[in-house]
Amino acid sequence: MCGIVAYIGPEKAGPILFDTLKRLEYRGYDSAGVAIRSDGEIQVLKSAGRIGDLEKVYVGMGMPGDTVGIGHTRWATHGKPSDKNAHPFISGDIAIVHNGIIENYLELRDLLTQAGFEFKSETDSEVLAHLIKMYYHGDLADAVTKAINRVEGSYAVAVVSASSPYLVCARKDSPLVLGIGKDANYVASDVAALLPYTRDIVRMKDGEIVLLYGSKEIEIRDLSGITQTFQTEKIDWNIDAAERGGYPHFMLKEIHEQPRALQETFAGRISEIDGDVQLDLGRTNEEIESLERVSIIACGTSYHAGLLGKYLIPRAAGLPVDVEVASEFQHIQLRPRTLVLGITQSGETADTMISLKKSKTCGVGRLAITNVVGSTVTGLVDGTIYTRCGPEIGVAATKTFTGQLAALFLLAIRLGRARNHLTPDQGRKMLVELTRLPGLVQSVLDKREEIRKVAEEYAGAGCYFFIGRDFLYPIALEGALKMKEIAYIPSEGYAGGELKHGPLALITEKTPVVAMATCGRKIQSNIKEVRARGADVIAFATEGDPDIDKVASTVIELPRTRPVYSAVLCTVGVQLLAYYTAAKLGLPIDKPRNLAKCVTVE
Ligand code: G6P
Repeated sequence: MCGIVAYIGPEKAGPILFDTLKRLEYRGYDSAGVAIRSDGEIQVLKSAGRIGDLEKVYVGMGMPGDTVGIGHTRWATHGKPSDKNAHPFISGDIAIVHNGIIENYLELRDLLTQAGFEFKSETDSEVLAHLIKMYYHGDLADAVTKAINRVEGSYAVAVVSASSPYLVCARKDSPLVLGIGKDANYVASDVAALLPYTRDIVRMKDGEIVLLYGSKEIEIRDLSGITQTFQTEKIDWNIDAAERGGYPHFMLKEIHEQPRALQETFAGRISEIDGDVQLDLGRTNEEIESLERVSIIACGTSYHAGLLGKYLIPRAAGLPVDVEVASEFQHIQLRPRTLVLGITQSGETADTMISLKKSKTCGVGRLAITNVVGSTVTGLVDGTIYTRCGPEIGVAATKTFTGQLAALFLLAIRLGRARNHLTPDQGRKMLVELTRLPGLVQSVLDKREEIRKVAEEYAGAGCYFFIGRDFLYPIALEGALKMKEIAYIPSEGYAGGELKHGPLALITEKTPVVAMATCGRKIQSNIKEVRARGADVIAFATEGDPDIDKVASTVIELPRTRPVYSAVLCTVGVQLLAYYTAAKLGLPIDKPRNLAKCVTVE
């Protein structure tokens, strides 16, 4: 995830910027840069690669610059990792660093190009530098306010000018904290960067613009220029806890990042007016219309996302789908009018890469869903849908999985619209409901205490069952996988209808069964079947369901939405259940034994 730092005070800015940037390294990045005021000019130093290497260059140059500067670590979302796409971006005597997504950047880019600005990168962020420059006539805060009033999307931004006595930063939907030092001010994307310098922080709110001077002074304004009051908070976390945003594990932090990650996956892609979606699929509507099949290949959690595609795409787009774990993929049978879709959060999993390469020989179209810009998979396909979840540090995938589901929802609607299987009105209704999903996920997260109590009650179980039907069968598999991965409890994921064909023999009063019950009523017969064998049933059900209390022993209510989207809500429920079980058992949640985040061997 991109990181921002800034400093203004009595000390040389460069060493502080590099030190604070290194404290954000744990978030993951592919390039880094700083902009430091130096003899009335702005000096920019940036490159792809490690911060330590860039710092050596800075030291080799004799550590230029004075006491004001901004810095950035980039994790690519628009444009591949490279020197020219690294931040800061400069326009005349102004430099900016930006996190977030500017949804109307193409329109702004056209406008600024016509106004004579020259673009040097492939990023959306560069438009902000030129836009601020266009409005800058000596009052930097005014220029930033005017610029961000033109921007649609999300941003955390820090801006420095050679001629302004203060730094400016602003935020909307992307975090930014201010550090109030003894006689200096700091800015960072998270508290972890600031702790060696100050423990007095101010959390910026959406719609705020801050002017930071080289003394203790700061001024916070709203977007109409009215001065705002603010509260300083004293942080008593140690550095380790700060990196995890105060959460005990990265996994819990990442589970809580899901509303934001979903917003990023949707950002700039949904057109409610047309009832359609904008995606880079690398093919025309005519080519999409002529498709006969989609073949999905993936491993692990990504395979479970693929399975949801098998239920979703035929209904939305009228296309049959098969899904295969990548290590079992038989490319020989591929027919020419097949779209092969590789799903992989890392973009590097060996089995998925090998299968995609083999599929090329069959002359089929290829597409990827991944979280990592510029990863190997992107070089093997005609189009890529990025999930834009930010880096995931916990080995067990959480936010990248729900990001994959969100990407599949978008893809299914795009295919459906291109093939005239969905009318604009149907597309619109699906999209309107989809945009509610981040808020609905937040309401599931707000039930964490309820889920924690259930998890702790059953943490001693020797075996868990997860059951679901239809869209929720893949989530039953994913729930069982999460429980195995981090809580080391043998867990079975089953389609509800399959229970009586064998697994019922394992059900006793000591086998908790988690039922995904937000999609159809047939699952209630399966709940009765296991209850009759003495098992306790924890049901994730839609709020207000009149019957579920009568059959399940514990009901966790989820907000009402379309059954297909309830798959995401159930996912968050089973993630929290597995997490709190593993936490109760005192296990190394972020790094489970024998597992790796990215498996690059066959
Ligand atoms: C590893 C990880 C899993 C992941 C799988 C596939 O096994 O531990 O969490 O689901 O790889 O990874 P991918 O990057 O291809 O999604």
